[in-house]
Amino acid sequence: MKLAKFVDPLPIPKTLKPVFRKNGTTHYRVRMRQVMQSLHRDLPKTKLWGYNGIYPGPKFEVRRGERISVLWENKLPKNHLLPVDTSLHGTRPPTPKVRTVAHLHGARVRSDSDGYPEAWFTRDFAKKGPAFKNKVYQYTNDQRPAMLWYHDHALGSTRLNLYAGLAGPYFIRDHQEEALQLPKGRYEIPLVIADRTVRSDGSLYYPRRPKPSDLANPKNKIPTPSIVPEFFGKQILVNGKIWPYLNVEPRKYRFRILNASNARFYNLKLSSGQYFYQIGSDGGLLKKPVKVKQILIGPAERVDVIVDFSKMTGKKITLTNNADAPYPDGDSENLNPNTTGLVMQFRVNQPLTVKDTSRIPATLSSLVRYSRHNVRKVRYLSLNETFDKYGRLLQLITNRMWDAPITENPVVGTKEIWNLVNTTDDTHPIHVHLVQFQILQRRSYDVKYYNRTGKIRFTGPPIRPPRNERGFKDTVRANPGQVTQIIARFGPYTGKYVWHCHMDEHEDHDMMRPFKVIPKKK
Ligand code: C2O
Ligand code: CU
Repeated sequence: MKLAKFVDPLPIPKTLKPVFRKNGTTHYRVRMRQVMQSLHRDLPKTKLWGYNGIYPGPKFEVRRGERISVLWENKLPKNHLLPVDTSLHGTRPPTPKVRTVAHLHGARVRSDSDGYPEAWFTRDFAKKGPAFKNKVYQYTNDQRPAMLWYHDHALGSTRLNLYAGLAGPYFIRDHQEEALQLPKGRYEIPLVIADRTVRSDGSLYYPRRPKPSDLANPKNKIPTPSIVPEFFGKQILVNGKIWPYLNVEPRKYRFRILNASNARFYNLKLSSGQYFYQIGSDGGLLKKPVKVKQILIGPAERVDVIVDFSKMTGKKITLTNNADAPYPDGDSENLNPNTTGLVMQFRVNQPLTVKDTSRIPATLSSLVRYSRHNVRKVRYLSLNETFDKYGRLLQLITNRMWDAPITENPVVGTKEIWNLVNTTDDTHPIHVHLVQFQILQRRSYDVKYYNRTGKIRFTGPPIRPPRNERGFKDTVRANPGQVTQIIARFGPYTGKYVWHCHMDEHEDHDMMRPFKVIPKKK
């Protein structure tokens, strides 16, 4: 199927309206519904799942420190839109197939509002998972302004629920950031990038089984349907349209980019050869803007950029992608310069409505780098690849399955350094709930020696993160052959959270672990 490029205007997500405000709390209600939505001019509508019946979901706009509550309601049908594998953690019958639980990715929240994967619920809360506590979630937004995102996190179904469309943007704002005079209003636009394969009848395709080459022994009997090691779609969507375009004025724009794909990384460039001025990362503004010609973004990562179209009147500029899939060692069939190598188009064809008074300030925020002093614990945590009992690829953290007892239990309020020792061939985007962390360094090491002895022998010098990775992060690319070192202060809450790979197929099988923030000893 050949689809015309850049024929649909980029949809702009609408802001979610609160239901009411009372006693200093803003109350929202969001319903997950199945809908038919048009993803491309030349395709019949696609059956999707969306928060409030739209993909991507509506955008939250909240102030720093504003307390909000959200009633997340499941109004989805009984049957799943996509092939459900019932051999994975948390999915075995009689567990219902359609289960949901919303997680606000990047947020500092209490454990009972974090969307613990076992806190799922079915339509109208008819059935509830073992960790379910409360219907209404509370978010205090007590953190730096940033673009977060909310998405489903049901145990063993995250890849399917996300692919079906359960994801949306969430913005925290404050006066300090507003005082910077960055482009705003119509000139500040979220770009939710995700890949899908849509069939010519408009239906969403998701594989039912892995390729024989992905199995330890191609003759093995495996469950049907079965999870795949990772999935890469053939079309690229931005804000719910395949290869859209955006008409722009000759001025500066601020784009809040989110990679909401299951497994695909993007290496973004502008066909004009222009720079992006990257001003923020997952956890908000950087200290200073960074001029970059390309930006690599793994699943769940966000980048905040300014693009200046002021000298580009009359030009059409394509946002392109050339990241291997899987990353960094790709399969040529997963990246095609004429399809998955294209993201969207900007057309500088609008008159300037008002003079562009927005700025790219030399200093963006006062960002303090964490020091290595007073670190309470240094952990070495391996990322592994093996096979499950069916001979299917299985990704793990510290060689443990999800169900194994908790091994990471930081004391509330203390700093820890986590060394992510990647023994696999893939870059894994590792996400830690509750905290915004910083990347200290990455360093090459001898993988074979490590696999044999369990000891780390470095083979190169420590590499500082590039300047656009020196802000706050909640998801870090842990590259193959490297130890990626991050530092975080765990708190202010205690309780159970999770950390995992954000390639959603990995997360579901079984690259996710619980962790527990424990109280200080008295
Ligand atoms: Cu974006 Cu644990 O999630
Ligand atoms: Cu992974």
